[in-house]
Formats: sequence, C-alpha cells, structure tokens
Amino acid sequence: MILHYDHIDSTNRVAKDLIAEGTPSGTIVRAAAQSAGKGQYGRVFESPQGGLYFSLVLEPDLPLDQSPLITLATGLACLRVLEGQFSLSPLIKWPNDIYLAGKKVAGILCENVIKPGLDGPTATVIVGVGMNANNQVSDFADEIQPLITTLFEHLHHRIDLDVLLADLTRAIVGQVTRLKHERAIVLTEWQQADLLMGRSVVYLHDSRSLTGTGLGVTAQGTYRIREDSGLEHQVIGGQLRLSSA
Ligand code: BTN
Repeated sequence: MILHYDHIDSTNRVAKDLIAEGTPSGTIVRAAAQSAGKGQYGRVFESPQGGLYFSLVLEPDLPLDQSPLITLATGLACLRVLEGQFSLSPLIKWPNDIYLAGKKVAGILCENVIKPGLDGPTATVIVGVGMNANNQVSDFADEIQPLITTLFEHLHHRIDLDVLLADLTRAIVGQVTRLKHERAIVLTEWQQADLLMGRSVVYLHDSRSLTGTGLGVTAQGTYRIREDSGLEHQVIGGQLRLSSA
C-alpha cells in the first residue's frame, strides 16, 4: 500500500499511526512536502516541494539489538541508487546522512515500534528517508543553504520521483534483507563509502564532546573514534561531525 499526501506534518508520524492500526510490512507513506519532517536529535527536517519524502514500514527478520544496522543498510541502499541511476559518487556520514561533494543531499530517520512477542519483543521499523531531489538550494532556509545540496544541482535536470521512490524502496528492502546472512559484507561495503574514515571528527553527546579520528563502524553499528592519546571509543546516539565543519 502506498499513501501519498500533498502536504503533511511528517510521514514518519503517519506511519506510526498506521502501525498502531495494524498496517502490514511494506506500507509506504509519501508526501510532496512536510511541515514538521522529523530529523535526528529532535530537529525539523526541512521538506520543501520537489524533494522525495517517504516512510517505509518494515518488519525485518532481525534481532532487536541489530536495529541500528537498518539505518546503515538504508544509507547503503540510497548510495547504490544514486550511483546506479545517476552515476553520482555519494558518501555516507555516520549514521544517517548522504553527502554529495561535501554537502548533505539526504537524511534517514529510522524509528522502532516495539511489540511484545512469544520469543521476546520485536520491532516494526519506520524507515524514513528525505532526499533533496528536484528542489534547489535556494528553496531552503538561509542558514542551512551552505550545508546542503540537491540532485537537481548535480544533474541539471528534473528526475521522476515515482521511479526514484520505487528504486529506493526496492534497494532498502534488498539491503535490509542482506543483513541477516551477509551482515559483514554489507558493513564492509558501507565502510567503503564512509565520509569520516581516517578524518578528524568531533562527537557531541549531551554536554560532552570527544575529538579524535574516525575509524569506521562496528558489527553492532556503533562508530569507532580514536583520541590523539590512542584511547578508542565506540559511540552511538550523539552527533558526529568533521572537526572542520
Ligand atoms: C536527518 O537528516 O536528520 C533525518 C531526516 C529524515 C527525514 C525523513 S523525510 C521522510 C520521513 N518523515 C519524517 O518525518 N522524517 C523522515
């Protein structure tokens, strides 16, 4: 089932309501624009007309503690579609941002809805993807314009968002399915597109910060950072960025 709204607050919010009503895995909620798109860290994800904004409901056959990997698999899926369909060369900034030539072109927000089960709790996952596509940088708020890009800025022509949605959802299901038997290969492929690998990064969590060198993801989906002292950390949940950014 695909639900298409012209304008809605957040497709992730609608997907959550549909899950409560028993919607099946595979449901897609799409909007041409959002007024309160949900981003990481409680931020609003700016969603003007021309972008592709959707939430895919998935019931992955994975243990609950592997759900952080779904964000990584979704990032890899976005990467493969942008490479394969448009010959672009994106990179992924852990855990959920897709970058083109140093600027963000897409963001991913996966949210879990936990249900009790006979063999322990299971998660239905809302895979939310927002991609700046047929819009232009000038369509966004002044303060984020220097940080973002759109597919239009790279391709110089408009693309068919219906086709992009079909390609992305197929690729996401494919990459998430691979996590069950090919997790290590998926992570190796992800690692090859890691924007932060070997670079100087800052990790912010609550009021604490950590500076070091990005070392890539672990099998659990956490990110490794090595401080100049040699001390290594595995982080999850906070913000990680290039220290020059
Ligand atoms: C981020 O970059 O912080 C994550 C952004 C995720 C945005 C998408 S747009 C479609 C879906 N619905 C939402 O409300 N958020 C996600």
